[in-house]
Amino acid sequence: MSKLLVVENEPVTLGLLTTLLKGEGHEVTPAKDGSEALQFIDERSFDLMLSDIRMSPVDGMELLSRAKEIAPSMPVIMLTAYGTVSTAVDSLKLGAFDYLTKPFKVDELLNTVRRALEYNRAIQENVEMKAQLTTRYRLENIVAESPSMQRVCEMIRRVGPTDTTVLITGESGTGKELVAKAIHASSTRKDNLFLPVNCAALPEPLLESEMFGHVKGAFTGANTHKAGLFEAANGGTILLDEIGAMPQSIQGKLLRVLQEREVRRLGSNENTAIDARVLAATNDDLRKLMEEGSFREDLFYRLSVISIEIEPLRKRPEDILPIAYSIIRKEIGDDQEQPKLSHEVLEIMETYDWPGNVRQLENCIKHALTFRTRGEIEPSDLPAQIVNAPRAQRPFKEKISGNIETATSLKAFLKDKEQEYLEQVLKRSGGNKEEAARKLNISLATLYRKLPNQKEDE
Ligand SMILES: Nc1ncnc2c1ncn2[C@@H]1O[C@H](COP(=O)(O)OP(=O)(O)OP(=O)(O)O)[C@@H](O)[C@H]1O
Ligand SMILES: [Mg+2]
Repeated sequence: MSKLLVVENEPVTLGLLTTLLKGEGHEVTPAKDGSEALQFIDERSFDLMLSDIRMSPVDGMELLSRAKEIAPSMPVIMLTAYGTVSTAVDSLKLGAFDYLTKPFKVDELLNTVRRALEYNRAIQENVEMKAQLTTRYRLENIVAESPSMQRVCEMIRRVGPTDTTVLITGESGTGKELVAKAIHASSTRKDNLFLPVNCAALPEPLLESEMFGHVKGAFTGANTHKAGLFEAANGGTILLDEIGAMPQSIQGKLLRVLQEREVRRLGSNENTAIDARVLAATNDDLRKLMEEGSFREDLFYRLSVISIEIEPLRKRPEDILPIAYSIIRKEIGDDQEQPKLSHEVLEIMETYDWPGNVRQLENCIKHALTFRTRGEIEPSDLPAQIVNAPRAQRPFKEKISGNIETATSLKAFLKDKEQEYLEQVLKRSGGNKEEAARKLNISLATLYRKLPNQKEDE
């Protein structure tokens, strides 16, 4: 059953239309003129409006344009008498779905109404689909080619929809905040706030009032009442970033907040219930801090109900180039021609150690895009410290690229690449053929057959 609004000055026609459309199972609201119709549109939503053109005081054209402002997605069918057809055509330009010329045939009327409602439904579904796509896209923001990053994404998908506290660890610049945002975005809290608080950036008393709030006069300078982040993030998510730097006195208070799900503003003696999901992130080794006695063990266990560890970029080299290209795309824009990375640049990037991880890679690409002189990005465009750094021991794996000049048969090319790949896997398995065969999902005999030289070595 759809909700229809029918606007017509002529009472007989209005009655007729109302009966006809009700007979089709719709909920029909009749309006005797344009101003009454506007009032209805203001108050509630309709799936479709049918409106006469010649009306007063507000005529059909004016009603149409006002309706398009108030309810832009509601389709409108205009009803026109002989002599106003040219106006009806104009109405299409103003966004009307279609028009019907009076006197209209019942079939024609019902058909047009059906088409308009279908169109409306399709638009609504499209809007919903787009909304779903945005959440999925959030996770796709995370480039994850390496198995370890794919595991991180899988964790996000699983823990996202729960209310569990998650501890995210990883070196500086590995994407901890990105992961926290993705968890928030894949939870039911996604339409509410995501509030990060950097525990290392504020001195102790300020951090405390920032997190828990204060009442007027709680300390010098507290001139007003202020809600803390826990209260502000109600219904949303709070990220306690650099949790390792949290002063011990606050650690104890935080633990109580997490246990009791209540906060007490500084200087107040009343508690307020809170509903914020808590995520924490750190690049410190919390276990070491616990051993040294600077991080509370009970807090650690409460925070790390689930923990997600992000590996440094150098341990997942498969991610380097895909991330580099995704940064280029983000910086340049999808509609512009994307600069390529030269062969040397690819090799430098893949074998560099990236102590600053993805953030450093991001800065490196931005630098290169600023300084590049030609279309392709070359080593001279990169920051010198990266080009001149000692290279890691990792082998550089160039993507398969055939050389047109010396083209051989496809079979020979594939065999060549197969050899290369088998040797790499064998090398990564420390020469252990059984392990290599398992990783390749082939039998040991097949591996021997495909690597005849290896067999001779034995
Ligand atoms: N897998 C990834 N795919 C795409 N972009 C990424 C990825 N990981 C990190 N980034 C980007 O790298 C930058 C640094 O990430 P983020 O700020 O989340 O790191 P962090 O671990 O919180 O760093 P810090 O410890 O310095 O606070 C961000 O711009 C982020 O979008
Ligand atoms: Mg961070």
